[in-house]
Amino acid sequence: MELIRSRRSNRTITDKPIPENILQDILEAARYAPTAENSRRVKITVLNIEQIQKVEDATMNFFLGLARFLMNPVIRPITKLCIPSLYQEAPELFRFEKRWQAGERPCTCNAATLLVFSTPKGYDFGWQDCNLAYQNASLMAEVHGVSQVYMGLVQSALKYMTTKRVSRLLHLPEKHRQYAIMALGFPAFRYNKYTER
Ligand SMILES: Cc1cc2nc3c(=O)[nH]c(=O)nc-3n(C[C@H](O)[C@H](O)[C@H](O)COP(=O)(O)O)c2cc1C
Repeated sequence: MELIRSRRSNRTITDKPIPENILQDILEAARYAPTAENSRRVKITVLNIEQIQKVEDATMNFFLGLARFLMNPVIRPITKLCIPSLYQEAPELFRFEKRWQAGERPCTCNAATLLVFSTPKGYDFGWQDCNLAYQNASLMAEVHGVSQVYMGLVQSALKYMTTKRVSRLLHLPEKHRQYAIMALGFPAFRYNKYTER
């Protein structure tokens, strides 16, 4: 319970790189997760900062393009009515834009490393196997004081890009599809209290 309750998505990630031995522990924890029929088809691609920057830029450009269209004065009332969630999130997105222009990577939480969990295309249990592996990896990262954040925003943007572009951006193994992405890095501070749920 101590480990489970202390795990948080701490987004104050610093520049400190993740030592190889810690990264290996995280990957090994992921390998021990259950998989359907014990088929163990999950591959984890480790992305470095240069590669992460490309994922960040693609995500920001996608959302900014969408927001500029949906928030333009003519369309805006329709957006407010039909897509209220996006309407509410637009100011946060424009705050992200400022940070991005200042050289930060807000969508990928300034991660030092990204882990991309993928399985072969057409495999029926990709979502399940990848996300079980994700959770194992996440708990092991916490053990080492490494913060982990689930990259839902990035996944949402990737949904609207071609398979070829996604494969290239994420450096996926051939004919693989990604089902989870984890941002990793050492946080600037540690929470000293649990949240109650
Ligand atoms: C499917 C999913 C998508 C998420 N996407 C993002 C994301 O894009 N960016 C982010 O900063 N956090 C993201 N999170 C993290 C959640 O916001 C976070 O887990 C939740 O607020 C609870 O906080 P905790 O992890 O610190 O306990 C995501 C979490 C999940 C499960």
